[in-house]
Amino acid sequence: MIYQGKALTAKYLEDGIAELCFDLEGDSVNKFNRLTLQELGEATAALAAEAGLKGVLVTSGKSVFIVGADITEFTELFKLPDADLRSWAVQANDVFNGFEDLPVPTVVAINGVALGGGFEMCLACDFRVMSSAAIVGLPEVKLGINPGFGGTVRLPRLIGCDNAMMWVATGNHQKPDAALKDGGVDAVVAPEQLKDAALDLLKGTIAGDFDYKARRTEKTSPVKLNDIERMMSFTTGKAMVAQQAGRHMPAPLTAAKSMERNAGLSRAEAIEVEIDHFIKLVRTPQSAALVGLFLSEQAVSKAARGFAKTGGDVKQAAVLGAGIMGGGIAYQSAYKGTPILMKDIAEAGIELGMKEAGKLLAKRVSRGRMTADKMSAVLNSIRPSLTYDGFDKPDVIVEAVVENAKVKRAVLAETEKHIRNDAVLASNTSTISITHLAEALERPENFCGMHFFNPVHAMPLVEVIRGAKTSDSTVAKVVKYALQMGKTPIVVNDCPGFYVNRVLFPYFAGFDMLIRDGADFRKVDKVMEGFGMPMGPAYLMDVVGIDTGYHAAEVMAEGFPDRMRHDFTGISQMMFEAKRYGQKNGIGFYRYEEDKKGKPKKCEDDTALAMAAKAKQASVELSDEDIQARMMIPMCIETVRCIDEGILRDPADADMGLVMGIGFPVFRGGALRYIDQMGVKAFCEMADRYADLGALYQPTESLRKMAANGETFFK
Ligand SMILES: NC(=O)c1ccc[n+]([C@@H]2O[C@H](COP(=O)([O-])OP(=O)(O)OC[C@H]3O[C@@H](n4cnc5c(N)ncnc54)[C@H](O)[C@@H]3O)[C@@H](O)[C@H]2O)c1
Repeated sequence: MIYQGKALTAKYLEDGIAELCFDLEGDSVNKFNRLTLQELGEATAALAAEAGLKGVLVTSGKSVFIVGADITEFTELFKLPDADLRSWAVQANDVFNGFEDLPVPTVVAINGVALGGGFEMCLACDFRVMSSAAIVGLPEVKLGINPGFGGTVRLPRLIGCDNAMMWVATGNHQKPDAALKDGGVDAVVAPEQLKDAALDLLKGTIAGDFDYKARRTEKTSPVKLNDIERMMSFTTGKAMVAQQAGRHMPAPLTAAKSMERNAGLSRAEAIEVEIDHFIKLVRTPQSAALVGLFLSEQAVSKAARGFAKTGGDVKQAAVLGAGIMGGGIAYQSAYKGTPILMKDIAEAGIELGMKEAGKLLAKRVSRGRMTADKMSAVLNSIRPSLTYDGFDKPDVIVEAVVENAKVKRAVLAETEKHIRNDAVLASNTSTISITHLAEALERPENFCGMHFFNPVHAMPLVEVIRGAKTSDSTVAKVVKYALQMGKTPIVVNDCPGFYVNRVLFPYFAGFDMLIRDGADFRKVDKVMEGFGMPMGPAYLMDVVGIDTGYHAAEVMAEGFPDRMRHDFTGISQMMFEAKRYGQKNGIGFYRYEEDKKGKPKKCEDDTALAMAAKAKQASVELSDEDIQARMMIPMCIETVRCIDEGILRDPADADMGLVMGIGFPVFRGGALRYIDQMGVKAFCEMADRYADLGALYQPTESLRKMAANGETFFK
């Protein structure tokens, strides 16, 4: 044994050849935490002191290689003052450089995921052999930062500036063939041959067949481009990166600039440049939001696994209603391996549901992502029906009929008679209280909400809603089913609109008031798209369906009359009354024409503009900041209310719910992170400036208290 640590070990394999094996104790994966970094430094020193050492093989004792840096340590690390953060980064790089400088050749066997710091470890080796089942890459920009362990220094020297810029600026995972083609790895072999192949390469290098020293010199010297070549390469590259990243994400372009500035330098100087850019990015609000969101995502999926623990597998499911949502639910369930019965009252509905599922599957087949055989197997596992035949089989039955409390109560009560006593019923209602629907049932404990988003196959979120009488085992079963369907469930308590719609409608109310006060809805859309929303509110209403939105708004107004009832006729009501339902009937705030691919294309419509002019009751001067504030304040305050009332478990669920449910911009983290980044006090002051707009703009007592105590939602 040369070195024995808790994260890695180094020992002789055979005659002068040592194996350095990463195998973090007590964890299912390897990651670069402080301990691993420290031990890598110690192991490197121990290896360097071995007189008989001829070569080092780097391996992993887990199914992954190294997943990356330990992001749970980032929050504390990133709070360090610049000087301390720099000295941490310098020390970390000394460890990598020390390993790279070992007086013997080094070869890494990349058996599984090697990302971020994990791939930077590979880059510090002389040669890389990759399993055909592994992936590599530098995804740091997705956390709003750039690589910090020499990735922007070694990669361009290894694969060229143009390629390296694409790897780093997109942050994409690289599959084996692509990695080999670009030169990011030296060989790709089948998983079972990996260790032997890597060892052979190492022995060959020791024997002098491969010139590892030349490789090393290349990696530690300036990039071999003259000034003009370098300028050409980076000017085009940076323009592409900037265009792809958009104006809200500084990390990709900063990472590209780091490469541009360090390209002509020696390793030591180049690493200094990388660290400068790294610290600069760590200080951006985007990186705080993205790192926070990553941690929230982990917390949300851990909570879901916890809820599902006692759920047991869902072997067979059923869905009532073969409409837009029912068809989508059937497709997703079958595609992910849970057979499903799909019942409707109309033959036409069934046909539509099956056609929808068929279309989605055919698309997968045509893109080469699914075989025709698999497609027919999936389609066969959706069984359409007009009766309750076979309803004694399903473990979970999801109701997705029209959004009408009376109809839903009748359908649920009838269904309950045809299903097993221990089967779980769930409603996909968007707004109607689960406790209210449960009153129609004999076994309300076996009932909860399961709120999918449209389109079901594409939207990751499912709200699982606990009614007053819902049992824990019902929640467990439905969370389990959501996970089986590949979705991310969050468990929320019951109220009109649950979480996502409850906070979305105040946002729409903010929109109606803006139009009343003279804003141009096209401008509001533009401002909110500039804020980072995937579409502005008018366009979003068109996509959701203005009739759907109108009915939902009525349910919300009934539930929260103090703040969600309008005392004026808003533009959305006018659109509804004019039967302008949005995309579904081709006309709403915008007119929709089919483009060449048959997709609806958004066009301006004079009548909509004339209607907006009619809805206008005042001419308030509105800057872009006013528009953004007037849209965001109601949504943020309602989110806080959901926390206060225990509708949500915690801020992580709140922000993840908005990101996954409505596409809230990731670089802002979510509504609560948005308040945190502005400062709770500043947020309350901003809301107070719009106090004349009514109760939706009134900060809660809890917010005022947080402001007074200088508190935040996230640590
Ligand atoms: N469309 C969305 O964006 C969206 C998003 C989330 C949730 N939802 C909710 O999902 C539910 C369904 O919405 P949708 O948009 O799919 O509606 P839809 O009108 O497309 O489909 C409803 C289907 O239910 C069928 N149906 C009616 N009564 C039935 C009965 N007694 N038994 C069986 N089938 C019956 C109809 O024939 C129709 O095919 C609603 O509660 C809605 O609020 C919709």
